[in-house]
Amino acid sequence: MHVSHLSLADFRSYARAEVALDPGVTAFVGPNGQGKTNLVEAVGYLATLGSHRVSSDAPLVRMGADRAVIRAAVVQGERQQLIELELNPGRANRARINRSSQVRPRDVLGIVRTVLFAPEDLALVKGDPGERRRFLDELITARAPRMAGVRSDYERVLKQRNTLLKSAAMARRHGGRGMDLSTLDIWDQHLARSGAELLAQRLDLIATLRPLADKAYEQLAPGGGPVSFDYRGPAGVEGARTREELYEVLLAALGEARKQEIERGVTLVGPHRDELLLKLGQLPAKGYASHGESWSYALALRLASYELLRSEGNEPVLVLDDVFAELDARRRERLAEMVAPGEQVLVTAAVDDDVPSVLTGTRYAVAEGRVERA
Ligand SMILES: Nc1ncnc2c1ncn2[C@@H]1O[C@H](COP(=O)(O)OP(=O)(O)OP(=O)(O)O)[C@@H](O)[C@H]1O
Ligand SMILES: [Mg+2]
Repeated sequence: MHVSHLSLADFRSYARAEVALDPGVTAFVGPNGQGKTNLVEAVGYLATLGSHRVSSDAPLVRMGADRAVIRAAVVQGERQQLIELELNPGRANRARINRSSQVRPRDVLGIVRTVLFAPEDLALVKGDPGERRRFLDELITARAPRMAGVRSDYERVLKQRNTLLKSAAMARRHGGRGMDLSTLDIWDQHLARSGAELLAQRLDLIATLRPLADKAYEQLAPGGGPVSFDYRGPAGVEGARTREELYEVLLAALGEARKQEIERGVTLVGPHRDELLLKLGQLPAKGYASHGESWSYALALRLASYELLRSEGNEPVLVLDDVFAELDARRRERLAEMVAPGEQVLVTAAVDDDVPSVLTGTRYAVAEGRVERA
């Protein structure tokens, strides 16, 4: 698929922007702080309903405005769809598909698919486990949009279970009589049910992604690998395969942790606590890999995601935000050759020279809030 038109209103620095896009490579070039990343961030938002830079919507709305609108025309084969998202920080966002307002924002997922690589992705390797969980879960949702529902069910159950545990912990501290544990049993089952579904998807994803990431790393940094992953979850997760088995694993782990959970007043077991350990050679990448290695690793994860989504049909838009300036000449050329055949590739760079010459295509100059064909 590709985006043929992007239209913004009060999004980030843009009061308005209209950008016609072609398939193939489009480069947005301009000095720092002119709004290049803001453009590709909007495209990414259509695919994930979130920004790769901030965790809430408020910064995405232009200072002084009360809502932002992202509109896009999306082409997939013969089909063209119009999607529109209205961002209302503090209130519910709204969505439209082909001008029909009867849809939830979540229904938009799957129409635009992106794989976005940006300097922030260094945190995939160096950052907290939460960064890697988000990476997995966003990719899971790109593969199967219905997983957005499973993720939000899980979050909801987790929140309610935590509330229950917190009040149990308070009651204990104040010498109360403890809670009715049968209620907690039911929440355990809810948590284990959506948790198992999420876990099954994560494990399947990791197994599929690993060889692709290894291959991408080898292409970027020959001889530097191998790349491998370890999933750290509740005891017994390694042996479990089916969703049913994972459900049992989670229930058992919740049973084990219950005493401690009631003492601490928080859910200590489940996909929200798991860790994807990234390894380079025999060592964990986090804490051991050099800056350049970490950068290549993060890029390899994104390129592997791109290959994966491509191989499963409906080719995603590849977004490379400020990537080339970080790479040495050889890696730059390698990366450029790898991505050049993509259906749609959006690149940002501060200067023309940072965009490798094999990436010919449309150029836009971005300056002072204007986006103009160069
Ligand atoms: N909500 C907002 N309202 C108004 N302006 C904003 C908002 N959010 C960001 N900006 C402005 O947008 C500009 C940053 O845009 P962007 O990140 O797209 O820059 P860039 O062209 O990618 O720069 P660089 O080359 O440094 O990456 C900043 O000047 C910032 O002040
Ligand atoms: Mg930028």
